[in-house]
This record gives sequence, structure tokens and C-alpha cells, in this order.
Amino acid sequence: MGLVSLFLGLVSLFSSLTVGSGIGANWGTQATHPLNPNIVVRLLRENGIQKVKLFDADYDTLRALGKSGIEVMVGIPNDMLAPLAAKMKNAEEWVSKNVSKHITTDNVNIRSVLCSPFLPLFLYVAVGNEPFLQTYNGTFLSTTLPALQNIQSALIKAGLSNQVKVTVPMNADVYESANSLPSGGDFRQDIHDYMIPIVKLLSEYGSPFTVNIYPFISLYIDSNFPAEYAFFDGNASPVNDGGTYYYNMLDANLDTLVHTLQKNGFGNMPIIIGEIGWPTDGDRNANVEYARRFNQGFMSRIAGALFSGGKGTPLRPGPIDAYLFSLIDEDAKSVDPGNFERHWGIFTYDGQPKYLLNLGTTNAGQLIPAKGIQYQENKWCVMRPNARLDDPNVAASVSYACSLADCTKLGYGTSCGELDWKGNISYAFNSYFQIHDQQDEACKFPNLSTIVKTNPSQGTCKFDIMIQPYYGGADGRLPTQLGLVAGFALLLLTFL
Ligand SMILES: *[C@@H]1O[C@H](CO)[C@@H](O)[C@H](O)[C@H]1NC(C)=O
Ligand SMILES: *[C@@H]1O[C@H](CO)[C@@H](O)[C@H](O)[C@H]1NC(C)=O
Ligand SMILES: *[C@@H]1O[C@H](CO)[C@@H](O)[C@H](O)[C@H]1NC(C)=O
Ligand SMILES: *[C@@H]1O[C@H](CO)[C@@H](O)[C@H](O)[C@H]1NC(C)=O
Repeated sequence: MGLVSLFLGLVSLFSSLTVGSGIGANWGTQATHPLNPNIVVRLLRENGIQKVKLFDADYDTLRALGKSGIEVMVGIPNDMLAPLAAKMKNAEEWVSKNVSKHITTDNVNIRSVLCSPFLPLFLYVAVGNEPFLQTYNGTFLSTTLPALQNIQSALIKAGLSNQVKVTVPMNADVYESANSLPSGGDFRQDIHDYMIPIVKLLSEYGSPFTVNIYPFISLYIDSNFPAEYAFFDGNASPVNDGGTYYYNMLDANLDTLVHTLQKNGFGNMPIIIGEIGWPTDGDRNANVEYARRFNQGFMSRIAGALFSGGKGTPLRPGPIDAYLFSLIDEDAKSVDPGNFERHWGIFTYDGQPKYLLNLGTTNAGQLIPAKGIQYQENKWCVMRPNARLDDPNVAASVSYACSLADCTKLGYGTSCGELDWKGNISYAFNSYFQIHDQQDEACKFPNLSTIVKTNPSQGTCKFDIMIQPYYGGADGRLPTQLGLVAGFALLLLTFL
């Protein structure tokens, strides 16, 4: 098995190298049952995804990536910006523990032998994540720049600044357009003076501007937004910007950024799309059909640019460096932005493809599922058949279950939106039960619930079973009993 997977890894590595910069993916881990990082790395390799963007610097994740040849944008969460801004020493320690440490192990050698000695494993450190979002009320306005400076200095001091670049993933509303056309682009007035020194630093060190662009969100917050304009094959009437025509929102948005950078003297700065994607559930516009249409449209543009040298935007023709958002669903994300927030993955929580998507990186021309997934038992918690809907405990039980589990697939236009009341209640109970690893106590809603062995899924509405929990194994945090189980699983895997 080792040899075969190494061989497959090599094949996907080489085939992916031939297509140039290729596609990346965001790998977030805010899930109640995250996948084992080794399974995810294999998933990435088998799907020819050669770049990942992380939101932190989790040790096991980086270790699993280390031997893969996959390029990494490692992330620094916003709550670390203040300490990193306050003390150079904190930044040095962060770089040493979270970057240097992984580079100086044998990981980089693997890359050097297979590819080129000049291709680093770590390509970028993302300092903060959308720190200037308006919902943060300016909390990170004054710490982002000094944190960025300190990380840059720490990289120089560690001798890594030639291979590792800094960047700050920004939300797309850090710029705007006075006349609603790309040519009117400039940084938003209230943060203009914060943006300039950041962009200046990025420019000085040859670093890219990273921006997250979401046509879905535009559609979500503004029901008058022309839906067709969100897609690449849409029939939207084009926007005419002084003779340059824009047929989709992404082009217009990116060129607004290009105009913004030009206007401020940074016209040649490279641009990375840090996040781009479409969710599949939790909203009437979040479904498999739209997600496939958007992501496939985007991939075809990228592939088109890579293979025929054609696409890109009017102002930036050529390949667009981008990271899909996202790789896998995360059922523990905050739903503050909306119920769709837990459903951005091109793969479900258990690494299964949600729809046909051709990344142009696999022979099959479609996504390849994760291997080695171990599920919990086939049992579900549902409403007792003769329980009464007017039972006084129903409301409290459902809201308790939903507050601690995941009910984001319920509601108008979602995959479980057609359930009747009883179905709704069962869905909530089951989600709570599965997220709590099917413990008997997690199906004891007073006089209301029961455990069944037949799958209560109906139509598009799936009553999921969780995977076996992953506890990490690198640092001895593993509880003994679970250690035994994991050890067994590992043993089995080795013999398979
Ligand atoms: C390394 O990154 C992790 C995860 O982001 C963080 O918790 C930790 O504090 C970092 N290490 C140092 C020394 O800053
Ligand atoms: C931002 O301000 C609003 C209104 O003042 C408040 O409701 C919200 O909790 C604040 N958010 C943060 C992240 O501080
Ligand atoms: C349990 O529910 C049944 C209806 O299915 C009802 O007749 C009974 O009184 C309930 N028991 C309690 C303790 O609430
Ligand atoms: C099921 O629950 C959802 C959200 O909790 C609600 O919008 C919907 O109306 C419910 N379905 C029925 C048939 O009552």
C-alpha cells in the first residue's frame, strides 16, 4: 500500500506541476468530527490539489502535509494579531515553532528531490483573516500592520524570507467603487490610511494582495442582485466600463481591485483569490446545482487560462491564483453569517464529493472520495412514533438539541426543507445524538425520543452518521481507552 500510494502521489504531483500554478483549496477544521489529517492529505493528492490554505498552524496538519509536496499558506488567527504586534519576540517564536520547525525536518528534502530545490513547502504566511471586516468594529485595525511587520522581520531573521511571503487575506469590501464601475475603484474611505502602509509593505517584499470574493454573499444580502451575474455562463447583460465589458461579478470585482491598486501606485502587485466558492445548503440559493455551476465555471476559466492562455480578467489576463472555499464542510462554524456557513465544502464532512466537479487534475475528470473513513454504527435517534406534537417538552427539547448540534439543513429552500414537523423534530434529535457519538444519554429527550436501526433519511434530506472521532496522536494527548481504539484502527489500516 505504501508504495502504491507513494506512486499515486508522485503521479498527481507531476501531473499537477505540468499545469502551472493550478488550483488550491481552503482546509478549515471547525468541525465536531474533523477528518484525520493524513486522510485529508491523501484526498488532496488524489484530487491533484497542490496548494492549501490553512487558518492556523495546527501541528498534526502541518506534519501530515510535510511529506506531501503540497504547497501551504499557513494562517495566523486574528486573536493572535495583538500579541504578535506587541512584541517582536512573539513573532520570532511563532515563526520558529510554526514554520522553521517544519522546514528543518526532512519534509523539504522530499520536495527538493522530487521537484526543484527552490520550491518551498511553505509559500505564504497569512497574517490574520479578513481583519478589516466591518463586523469586527475596527478591533484589528491598528494591530494588523505591526503584526505583519514583525512576522516579516522574523522570517528575514530566520533566513526564510526568500521562500516564504507574507500576505493578509482581505474581505472584498476593503475596496469599493464610487461609480459602481471597476474604473472607480479605491480603498474604502474609512480604512484607506490603514490599507496603504499594508500594501506598501507587501509591495516592498514582493508579496501578493490576497482577497476573498463571494458572489453568493452578494446574492444573499441583496435579493435584487442579478443572479445570472454571479455565474460565468450566465446571461447577464454586461456592464460597460468605458468600452471594457464585464459579464460576471468576479471579473468586475477583481478589476475594481486592480484599479484600486493602480490608483494608489501598486499597479503591478500580484493578486491571489484567497477564498472563492459556493455553499450547498442552508439557504434557498445554496444548493448543489448552483455550487456546481459556479465552481465548475470558475475552474473552467482557470483551466482555460492555464491551457490556452486566454482567460483571466480584462485588466489581468492570464491564470488566476486561487483557493477554493472550501475543501470540507465544517459543522461547528459560527452561523452568524448565515446557515449556509457550514456547507461550503466541495466534499461532505466525511470526504465524499457532493457533485460532479472537474478540477482538470484527475484522469476521472471528477472528484475522488476520501479513503479509509470509519463511521459510527448504523443507528439514529428520532421522535418516538406515538409521541405527541403538543407535548410541552417538544419546543425546549428541539431548541436545546439545535443549539448544541447542527440544524442548518432545516428551513426554507434547504435539503431538509420539505420535512414535516415530526421530521423536523427527529432531525434535530438525531443531529444531537450523532454529534455526541451516539451515546445513549444523547437520545433521552423526555418521553419524546427513541433509537432506531432503519435510516430515517427522506429524499434530499440525509440523516447523517458521524465518523469515528479523531483525537490527534502526535503529542500524547490521546486518552488511553481512545488510544487503544485508534491504535487498533491504525493496526487494521496497516494490514489492509
Ligand atoms: C503556533 O501556531 C499555533 C496555532 O495557530 C498557536 O496556537 C501557537 O501559539 C503558535 N506557536 C507560537 C510559539 O506562537
Ligand atoms: C460591534 O458593535 C456592535 C454594535 O455596537 C455590537 O453589537 C457587536 O457585538 C460588536 N462586535 C464586536 C465583534 O465587537
Ligand atoms: C408520554 O407521552 C404519552 C403520549 O405518547 C403520554 O400519554 C404520557 O402521559 C407521557 N408521559 C409523560 C411522563 O409525560
Ligand atoms: C421545520 O423547521 C423549520 C425550521 O426550524 C421551519 O422553517 C419549518 O417550517 C418546519 N417545517 C414544518 C412543516 O413545520
